[in-house]
Amino acid sequence: MDKIQINGGRKLAGEVFISGAKNAALPLIAASILVDGTCEFTNVPDLIDIHSIRLLLEDLGARCTFDNHVMTVDGSGIHKIEAEYDLVRKMRASILVLGPLVARFGHAKVSLPGGCAIGARPVNMHLTGLEALGAKIDIYHGYIEARAEKLTGSEIYFDTPTVTGTENLMMAAVLAKGKTVLRNAAREPEIVCLADALSRMGAKISGAGSAIITIEGVPHLSPAQVTVIPDRIETGTFMVSAAATRGNVLIKGCDPHHIGGVINKLKASGAEVEIYDDRIRVKGVEHVRSVDITTLPYPGFPTDMQAQFMALMCIADSTSIIHESIFENRFIHANELMRMGADIMLSRANIAKVKGVAELQAAPVMASDLRASASLVIAGLIAKGTTLISRVYHMDRGYEAIEEKFCALGADMQRIR
Ligand code: EPZ
Repeated sequence: MDKIQINGGRKLAGEVFISGAKNAALPLIAASILVDGTCEFTNVPDLIDIHSIRLLLEDLGARCTFDNHVMTVDGSGIHKIEAEYDLVRKMRASILVLGPLVARFGHAKVSLPGGCAIGARPVNMHLTGLEALGAKIDIYHGYIEARAEKLTGSEIYFDTPTVTGTENLMMAAVLAKGKTVLRNAAREPEIVCLADALSRMGAKISGAGSAIITIEGVPHLSPAQVTVIPDRIETGTFMVSAAATRGNVLIKGCDPHHIGGVINKLKASGAEVEIYDDRIRVKGVEHVRSVDITTLPYPGFPTDMQAQFMALMCIADSTSIIHESIFENRFIHANELMRMGADIMLSRANIAKVKGVAELQAAPVMASDLRASASLVIAGLIAKGTTLISRVYHMDRGYEAIEEKFCALGADMQRIR
C-alpha cells in the first residue's frame, strides 16, 4: 500500500488550481440514470470514488467514457436495477443510485451502505422519504429493495439536514406525479449544482440552496451537458495548509462563496485572506491564534474541514475547542496528531480541546479516512523532519494528484509505493 513521505518545515508558496468537487460529481453521475440518452459532465475530478461510481453504473448497463476530466454517461442501456454489495461497499455514496433507479424503473435493489470510520452513517431519512413518495421499502440480507408503480409527490421533512438524503429524494421526485416539497433540506453548493443540472435536463425545481426545495414532477428528462463546481473542501485544505506553514499561496479556480465558514475562522486565527472572484490568496502568520469551531450543516463550518483545521490549531497560541456536531466518531486523526506531539484532550461529547504547542514532531502515522489523511499531511508539512503517512489510498479517494499539487507549492513530498 502506498505511503506519502513528507520532509516538513518548509513554507508553501506559489499557485494551485482546484479540481472539480467529488461530492458534486457523484450525485451528477448518479442523476444520469434518470436519462434515456447521453449526459456529459466536464471538470470531473480523476479520483478513486469517481471510478467506483462509473463501475457501478456500467454494471447496471450504462455506457461511460472518461477522458481528460470529461465523463459521458449513456443511460439508455441500463437494464439492471441491482447495485451489488461488492460495488457499494467500496463507496457509501453509491446509495445515490437508489432514488434515480426507483424514479425511472419503479424498482431498485441497493446494498445497505453500512458505516465507515467516522460513524454509523444510517440512511433512514433516505428510506422514509421514498416511502413518503409511495415506494414500498423492504430490507433483507443487507439489501434495500424499493418498489413503486409510480412515485407520487409529497411533503418530506428531514429530522436533520442530510446531503445525500436531499440529493436522493430530489432525484426521486423529479419524475414523480405532482409536487414534492423537501423541508429542512441540506443547503450545500453540491445540492445547488445537482438542481441546476436536473433543471438543464428538464426538471422543475425551485429553492435549491435553501431549506425548502420544491419539485414539480415531469414525464421524462433529456440529456444535458453539466460542469462540476470546484471542490470547496480541497480549497479549504490548501487554505489551511498555507496558513499552517506560514506560507503564501494563491488558490485558483475556486468559488470563495462556497467556503465562507473556513475563511471566517482562518481570518480569526490571524491568517491574511484576500478574496477575488475565482481565487483566494492566503498568507500565514508566525503567531497563530487559537479559534473555537463547531461543525454545522452548510453554510456553517464544514465537518469535512474539521480535521484539517485541528492540525492548524495544534500550533496555535492557546486552547481551541473543537465541537464535531455532525458525525459521532470524527476525531480519529487526533490520536495520530498526538503521536506527533499535539496536546489534545477528547471528551465523549465530541469535544476536542486542542492546546497549542510550539512545534509538532515528525513521525510515522496512519490515515483512517479521507479528511483525516489531509490533516496528517498538514501536520507533516508543519513538523520538522520526516513524516511517513500510511494508508494514503484514503486520500486518493478525494484529492486528485495531491503530492504533485503540494510539490508545486514547494513541499518536499513524495509517494512511496
Ligand atoms: C455527505 O455525506 C458528504 N458525502 C460527506 O463528505 C459530508 O461529510 C457529509 O455530507 C456532511 O456534510 C457526499 O456528499 C458523498 P449526511 P452524507 O447525510 O450525505 C445523519 C467526505 O469527506 N443521517 O449529510 O452521508 C448522519 O449520520 C464525505 O467527502 C441520518 O441519521 O452525510 C450524519 O450524522 C465524508 N440518517 C448527519 O445526518 C440519514 O438517513 C449528516 O449526514 C442520513 C444522515
